[in-house]
Amino acid sequence: AKDWNGIDQVILRVPRGASARVSLHGGQVISWRNERGEELLFTSSKAIFKPPKAMRGGIPICFPQFGNCGSLEQHGFARNKIWSIDNDPPPLHPSDNDGKVFVDLLLRPTEEDLKCWPHCFEFRLRVSLAMNGDLTMISRIRNIDAKPFSFSYAYHTYLSVSDISEVRIEGLETLDYLDNLCNRQRFTEQGDAITFESEVDRIYLSAPNIIAVLDHEKKRTFVIRKEGLPDVVVWNPWEKKSKSMADLGDEEYKQMLCVDAAAIERPITLKPGEEWTGRLELSVVPSSYCSDD
Ligand code: BG6
Repeated sequence: AKDWNGIDQVILRVPRGASARVSLHGGQVISWRNERGEELLFTSSKAIFKPPKAMRGGIPICFPQFGNCGSLEQHGFARNKIWSIDNDPPPLHPSDNDGKVFVDLLLRPTEEDLKCWPHCFEFRLRVSLAMNGDLTMISRIRNIDAKPFSFSYAYHTYLSVSDISEVRIEGLETLDYLDNLCNRQRFTEQGDAITFESEVDRIYLSAPNIIAVLDHEKKRTFVIRKEGLPDVVVWNPWEKKSKSMADLGDEEYKQMLCVDAAAIERPITLKPGEEWTGRLELSVVPSSYCSDD
């Protein structure tokens, strides 16, 4: 398929009906639906589907910089670039192919990218959908330069929720976090589970590899599994910040929550020839499956 700007999109669909849509603009997953056709990722009604900026929603990829602490544009350039289909990707572990439909994408730096970030890399992204509808993203970044480089990374995942006040995250309690609303000062999480009543913009450090996002009203739980990505970003802009964002409706913060598997506090360093892999797996289960709900 193509979007309104003629940019290719790849649709993944499994027999039971779950589907995902991936745009070559940014290698961004822009839709993920369960077998009943319900959308699981948030997309703003004011989203702008036009390069060079990433559209507000789905799963933009932040690389080689997360946020604006660094010399690059906010969240790096990968999400703003046009990726290509990788027809001949190096093999992954056979279990990564089992019963899944997938697409492989590739990003290489342009001349322009090398001016602002002078490091040659190959970024391979596989997006796959399992027969049960689980969505997996595998990023492989290889240093093909003659010198080492470092980067930070995030799968900036906009989950669709019924009402932010009814949502809680489990798995981040007692962790240290850097608060983006206080110049990345370090604090320790005190609550039992994380709930929302104002703007939140935090980087939880060395988080467990499984995090649950419980949506009480929809009676469903997102399970986020990650590998190679120690940190977890939690972001909701709340009312005031939403009003200052042109591509987000004033009330839409209630229907979204970003929970990103990320590597931020300790950037990843690759020597020449080395490769890094970062995985994200998303699934949805009815809340009744969770022991304490
Ligand atoms: C979050 C950051 O991950 O992304 C926030 O922690 C930022 O600080 C938000 O505002 C959205 O960024 P952008 O560039 O997509 O508007």
